Parts: sequence; C-alpha cells; structure tokens
Amino acid sequence: MSGRNTKRLIRVAACALLSVTACAAASAEPDLAAGKALHDTECLVCHPSSHYSRAERRVDSLQRLEKQVDTCQQDVGADWDAQQSGAVVRYLNRSFYHF
Ligand code: HEC
Repeated sequence: MSGRNTKRLIRVAACALLSVTACAAASAEPDLAAGKALHDTECLVCHPSSHYSRAERRVDSLQRLEKQVDTCQQDVGADWDAQQSGAVVRYLNRSFYHF
C-alpha cells in the first residue's frame, strides 16, 4: 500500500470516529478545520462538545454565540484575535447550532 493510500485510510477512519457533521464540515472548508482545531485545543477543559447540542442549551442566536465564544475564550486565556474567534464561531454554528 502506498503512503498516500495509508494516509487516506487513516483520515477516513478518523472521520468515522468523529461526528459525521463536524467531520464533513471540517474537511470541506479549511476555515472550519482551523476553527475545530482551535476549539479542540482550548475549549474542552470545562465542557464537552455535547454541551452545544443539549436540549437546554442557552445560545439562541448567532450574536449570542459570538458573545459566548468571546467570553469563554477570554476566561480560558486563549487570547484569540477576531479571525480565530470567527473561525470557531463558524465551526460551532456549522456543526451544532445551525443559525
Ligand atoms: C473555564 C471554563 C470554560 C472554558 C475553558 C470554556 N468554557 Fe464555554 N462555557 C463555560 C461555562 C461556565 C458556560 C455556561 C454553562 C451553562 O450555560 O450551563 C459555557 C458555555 C458555553 C457556550 C454556550 C453553550 C450553550 O448553552 O449553548 C458556548 C458556545 C461555549 N461555552 C463556547 C466555548 C468555547 C468556544 C470555548 C473555548 C474558547 C469555551 N467555551 C471554553 C465555561 C468554559
């Protein structure tokens, strides 16, 4: 098996383990992949991703999502710039909130 095929196989296997929506979205647009990478590095300390899809979730608009991401990234000291926060907002919206 060539190296390229092995890589592809690993990628497909990794995708199968992840949520299908998040994975499809993340590989389709680089911005979303960057958002997911930033999110998974900084944001899983306090709450899992399932927090965004639970029935009693509190964020109910794109504006609130932007605000919450900003608050949380400041709390954790991630020090993201607008572009990084924007990528995470787009990742969360595309994968969980769908506003
Ligand atoms: C220091 C702990 C902590 C970290 C780290 C953290 N959060 Fe939060 N997050 C919270 C708390 C507390 C809430 C509010 C919990 C609740 O509403 O029940 C919350 C809620 C949220 C919500 C709203 C969920 C809803 O109800 O719809 C989003 C979105 C969110 N966080 C995004 C992020 C992102 C993005 C990061 C990474 C920058 C992050 N969080 C990191 C503590 C944290």
